[in-house]
Amino acid sequence: MKTLYLKNTENDIKKAAGIIKKGGLVAFPTETVYGLGGDATDERSAGKIYAAKGRPSDNPLIIHICKAGDAEKYAVTNEIYYKLTKAFCPGPLTIILPKKDIIPKAVTGGLETVAVRIPSHPVARAFIEACGVAIAAPSANVSGSPSPTEAAHVKADLDGRIDAVIDGGKCDIGLESTIVKIKDGAAVILRPGAVTEEMLSKVVPVGRDKSLFDKPDDSVRPEAPGMKYRHYAPKIPVTLLKGPHGLVIGFMAEKLKEDEKTGIICLSDDKDKIYGKNVSYLPNDPLGQANALFSLLRSYDESDAPRVYCVTPPRTGIGFAVYNRLTKASGFNTEYVGITIPVIGLTGQSGSGKSTIAEIFAERGAYVADCDAIYHGMLYKNSPMTEAIEKRFPFAVTDGALDRKALSDAVFSDKEKLKELNFITHGLILDEVRDRLIKAERDGYKFAVVDASQLFEAGYDAECTAVVGVCADEKTRVKRITERDGISGEKAKARLSGQHNEDFFRVYCDCVIENDKGVEQLYGKVDEIINKYVYGKKI
Ligand code: TXA
Ligand code: MG
Repeated sequence: MKTLYLKNTENDIKKAAGIIKKGGLVAFPTETVYGLGGDATDERSAGKIYAAKGRPSDNPLIIHICKAGDAEKYAVTNEIYYKLTKAFCPGPLTIILPKKDIIPKAVTGGLETVAVRIPSHPVARAFIEACGVAIAAPSANVSGSPSPTEAAHVKADLDGRIDAVIDGGKCDIGLESTIVKIKDGAAVILRPGAVTEEMLSKVVPVGRDKSLFDKPDDSVRPEAPGMKYRHYAPKIPVTLLKGPHGLVIGFMAEKLKEDEKTGIICLSDDKDKIYGKNVSYLPNDPLGQANALFSLLRSYDESDAPRVYCVTPPRTGIGFAVYNRLTKASGFNTEYVGITIPVIGLTGQSGSGKSTIAEIFAERGAYVADCDAIYHGMLYKNSPMTEAIEKRFPFAVTDGALDRKALSDAVFSDKEKLKELNFITHGLILDEVRDRLIKAERDGYKFAVVDASQLFEAGYDAECTAVVGVCADEKTRVKRITERDGISGEKAKARLSGQHNEDFFRVYCDCVIENDKGVEQLYGKVDEIINKYVYGKKI
């Protein structure tokens, strides 16, 4: 078959719609990635899509419509669907709903549900409108390879296998849509994307599907069947490197010395530290990373690199989606650089009882680095920390000694200043933590716990084997803080108000411990975590 290359003109879009009406396939741009479209009500089109992509037919397709109300024809909607579409659509969000009979099971991989998406890209919208029917469209790549973010990628994968491609330039976002299913009044994330957990949680309660971080278990059918395959992957093996960034870069440099053809993906900030024929750079900011990732992964298919090592980006905001695609691209293949013992990050709100849990980990043999204590221990007269603080906040240091009250009065009422202070302190604290962990490993510890309320803000999650969040209800936390620090309930509440809510920890941590029911039950939970993340046992 000869593939037709079309432009974003009224005439070409009409032509494309004509192809769809005759049961053909057209690839088209969306704000996320290019889709491979066919008539969503025609099972023969679905069959052609699976064949062209080489995709297993149990992996369902997303149907694309123009307005929220259009879903009524194809699916059984509900209140949450309308809340979500009102807040985020048109846009990069896909919602799973019970399907109506008009959608053949060939489209939904045999499921009784259908995934519905309302793209915002003007070309996608004009095309769907012209077709007059919902368009079933997976990403327009060969199954398993990185999704296409420009027409040239579609051509590379599907030329001669589909009827036409509409060229709409580069996709804005570059990663596929966020997928949610609706369960018990909450939106449960099956695939993270540009509509982030924080954004969703402002509109409806949010949950996270277990499959997001775990290596897929062959015996269990995942909620979004597509998530079980090695995905987004170049043809050569990809390894994600976790560990202190400096050491990761050092490790990469070693690998380059051994073989100059080694593929390396690091950050723009590393440009002066590492270079080579197959070295590429992700932008430092998460949005830029989302944008560049697939194109960059794809570029390794044309290189002579035998394998690729890649840095681990931070996991918050859209960074979570970038991280998710990278874990899939690597087939969950991660190497730790620096120390080899597992490191469990421990974080949570004030008063959640993190320290109690850290103590239990210590009883079970963990080396525990308490970042709060480390910070306070670094504030002595004329210390490097005190000097660094003085440079930015001169009024808070007199004769080399820090006036902690003056400093906290200045920063705790001013978010920007607090950010600046954190920027100064986090780096120094983490360097100290890293030194201590290296020593702990030498001393024979089998694993370590890093207790840090600002773990995510400091970007330390990227260095952890797993992150555990500790949560407790607000009443319990307020009571604990008033008793511990001797302050009023009002003040305790004010202190808590600026902190992340429980949803944040549920979304970003690998697991959450509820700590409001007494100490006894905590031991079992800690042991479960140790078994899973330190000894790799299934739980
Ligand atoms: O951004 C996007 O969503 C792009 C553009 C083209 O819209 N499309 C896309 O489609 O990424 P695809 O087929 O590459 O990924 C669809 C994912 C798969 O993981 C599939 O398993 C899941 O959605 N999915 C589809 N229908 C589902 C359903 N009824 N229940 C659960 N998961 C479903
Ligand atoms: Mg895909």
